[in-house]
Amino acid sequence: MQDCDSSGIDQRFQVRRLELLDKRKGFIELLQQLTVCDSVTDKDFEDRFKELSSLGDDHVIAVIEDEQSGMIVATGSVFIEKKFIRNCGKVAHIEDVVVDANTRGKQLGKKIVGFLTDHACSTGCYKVILDCNVDNKTFYEKCGFKQKEVQMIFEILINLHKGMKHMDICPTQIHKETEHPSKGFIKLNIDVVLDPLLLKFGVRVALRDDFDWVIGSFVVSLSLTPKSHVAKVLAMRQGLLMSI
Ligand SMILES: CC(C)(COP(=O)(O)OP(=O)(O)OC[C@H]1O[C@@H](n2cnc3c(N)ncnc32)[C@H](O)[C@@H]1OP(=O)(O)O)[C@@H](O)C(=O)NCCC(=O)NCCS
Repeated sequence: MQDCDSSGIDQRFQVRRLELLDKRKGFIELLQQLTVCDSVTDKDFEDRFKELSSLGDDHVIAVIEDEQSGMIVATGSVFIEKKFIRNCGKVAHIEDVVVDANTRGKQLGKKIVGFLTDHACSTGCYKVILDCNVDNKTFYEKCGFKQKEVQMIFEILINLHKGMKHMDICPTQIHKETEHPSKGFIKLNIDVVLDPLLLKFGVRVALRDDFDWVIGSFVVSLSLTPKSHVAKVLAMRQGLLMSI
């Protein structure tokens, strides 16, 4: 099959909703091309899949399976937010759009985003919004989006101790946020971070040298449903406190 044949490409790469068996078709590995995404056990995958499926049209994950290789090569998700304003209107949020690095440039990104915006239209949303970095602005413009206003993020940081959330590698010394580590020490910052839509949280870890410069950091992020976020964040916070 020729890649340049657009009807052949349409046939080979069709969009559909995520299925349970997609875990075995490289779905998680694809997400790893987007951001930090640890391996997920079959049980955790199934539990999350069932949880999201129970939300029906309010949370849809779209995928494209390559008919030739049987692998998932593109994905994106849409979450429908229900409001009181605008006559109890609905807003769609697009998230986690990624196309496999070996399959980019074939209009698959556009196809996934088109599927998600069609879904938003058919469920009666009055707008579709998403966040992206400047490198992807042109891509989303080609998908029909336009830049509007300024995105503001308020990251909710839950302190490990009141007024204190950092500690030296030496476990007996607890430092205030503003304090530099003692000479010869590095500082380990651990925060639990919750996003404003309450859909994601994670543990952010940063190492700072004795000039307070960040010498390494990472975020382990996890998805949440609105119902479970408080319990999970509090459990995470408790776990961090106990580990000090
Ligand atoms: C961004 C991404 C999803 C695009 O997927 P893709 O399948 O390669 O894109 P498409 O082939 O559908 O491109 C559609 C159009 O956008 C253009 N385009 C795609 N990526 C672009 C970019 N980074 N900059 C400028 N234009 C871009 C294409 O040239 C094409 O233009 P055309 O319609 O005039 O031919 C893909 O590069 C990717 O997965 N990147 C890494 C993950 C990521 O950043 N995701 C977005 C999170 S916000």
